[in-house]
Amino acid sequence: MRTIDWVDGAVEIIDQTALPEHTRVLRLSTVDELVDAIRRLAVRGAPALGVAGALGVALAARQYPDQARLAAAVEAVRTARPTAVNLARGANRAAARLARGRDAVLAEALRVRDEEIARSAAQARLGADLVTELCGPAPRLLTHCNTGALAAVVGGTALSVVAELHRRGALRGVVASETRPLLQGARLTAWELRQLGVPFQLAVDSAGPFLMARGEVDAVILGADRICANGDVVNKVGTYAHALGAARAGIPFLVVAPESTVDTATAEGAAVPIEDRGRDEVLHFHGARTAPDGVDAVNPAFDVTPHDLVTAIVTDQRVIRLDKGDALA
Ligand code: MRU
Repeated sequence: MRTIDWVDGAVEIIDQTALPEHTRVLRLSTVDELVDAIRRLAVRGAPALGVAGALGVALAARQYPDQARLAAAVEAVRTARPTAVNLARGANRAAARLARGRDAVLAEALRVRDEEIARSAAQARLGADLVTELCGPAPRLLTHCNTGALAAVVGGTALSVVAELHRRGALRGVVASETRPLLQGARLTAWELRQLGVPFQLAVDSAGPFLMARGEVDAVILGADRICANGDVVNKVGTYAHALGAARAGIPFLVVAPESTVDTATAEGAAVPIEDRGRDEVLHFHGARTAPDGVDAVNPAFDVTPHDLVTAIVTDQRVIRLDKGDALA
């Protein structure tokens, strides 16, 4: 089923906070419910957030006849999370149709959804070709966070490449890093890789660079929440450490993301707002407090990987070989 969709006048999502224990569908009929689901990461991942932004504006257009309240609702959707450019971009696309009425808004939102569906398959093909070219017929890949269908509508970004390689018989296996603090790797990527039948092992985030140094990983492949004009990649915190590990080990560091994640209006990673999700996610693990009372914590949800650590960016339309001097814009 689709991770996010418009069903009978409301947004339906797979509740990603319930996985892997429960596969539960949440029906979101109001803007407040949708914004709350985005903030709690019940729906998450850059492409899925783009669709959520667009469908959120479609909900707002139905819910608020009053112009001032409508504008406030659109703004709440657009800013529910700050880092993935897809969210504001999806909301802006749908909002640009508001003057033409709610059906026009919904039609544009559904176009955003359908475009993301098409993009996933295109990225899978281009990415799989590149991995085989760079790593040979049976590589072991390391991935971080969750970039599968759960992060998109179907398919995904980096994980769609993994799935395509597996289908082609051109993959030895995957190391998935668990992705503290919210465990998108352990909970979601492991769940998806199992469904795909891909051989994989889970590792703590900090093991990545050492596994690369020991020759157990042939390339890193992951997604992005925003790709800046200079090629800097903003993605789930921990990405930068994997990029440093890959550079030191001399293996490719590959980023797979749709064109809807490429933000050439932002010059470099330092200009991107990085969401800080507060101390509680760090101070607790699976509901239990892990640090002594009174301890403070810092919790950037994303980090910036400088462009010179990126071998290539694969979108649905092109392969940008940053290592060979290709430019994004
Ligand atoms: O905080 P999240 O789970 O929304 O972060 C998601 C990521 O960082 C993904 O790697 C990114 O969105 C690429 S997904 C296809």
